[in-house]
Amino acid sequence: MKKINLAIFASGTGSNAKNIIAHFENNNAVQVVTVISNKEDAPIVGWCQQNLIPVQIFSNDEVNNGQILIDFCKNLTVDFVVLAGYLRKIPGDFIRYFDEKIINIHPSLLPKFGGKGMYGMNVHLAVKTACESQTGITIHFVNDNFDEGRYIAQFFCKLESSDSVEVIQEKIHTLEQNYFPIVIENVINSILL
Ligand code: GRF
Repeated sequence: MKKINLAIFASGTGSNAKNIIAHFENNNAVQVVTVISNKEDAPIVGWCQQNLIPVQIFSNDEVNNGQILIDFCKNLTVDFVVLAGYLRKIPGDFIRYFDEKIINIHPSLLPKFGGKGMYGMNVHLAVKTACESQTGITIHFVNDNFDEGRYIAQFFCKLESSDSVEVIQEKIHTLEQNYFPIVIENVINSILL
């Protein structure tokens, strides 16, 4: 049986990308065929190179051009796309080509603390400033608007008023590591059924 090919987009540290790669390493049905980044100096790029994971860097101009990304992914017969800490907007024609086959993770309980500029520490700081008693992650499909695609799953964690922004980040990181790969696998399996 042909495996489902996954492309992971990442712009930063890549803890999620690495976790997804590890999760599918010996999977019979799914394989990661490429990591795509818009940042040559992103830690995830160096890690892929060291670990012989295929990685492709496109400039910001290139990633703004949906056709370049479509052609690249077509060549690799990519079936699913995962955004794991990818910080550029995905072009509309790419989103339409992979309709409901692009999965993003957002480090808050959307619709709270989403939208343009809401990434990384900005999100955790906003959660802390709003004195939230809980936060979490949202895994969702990608549409034309930042963080507004159909939700797939949300996972919660409790916050203490004494939690620093760094502690909030760590709690989110734990949720991401525990749940993101398995949710991706479930989405793929539900489509294969
Ligand atoms: C994660 O918190 C993810 O939810 C968000 O960006 C962060 C990326 O972290 N979209 P990493 O690069 O995977 O370590």
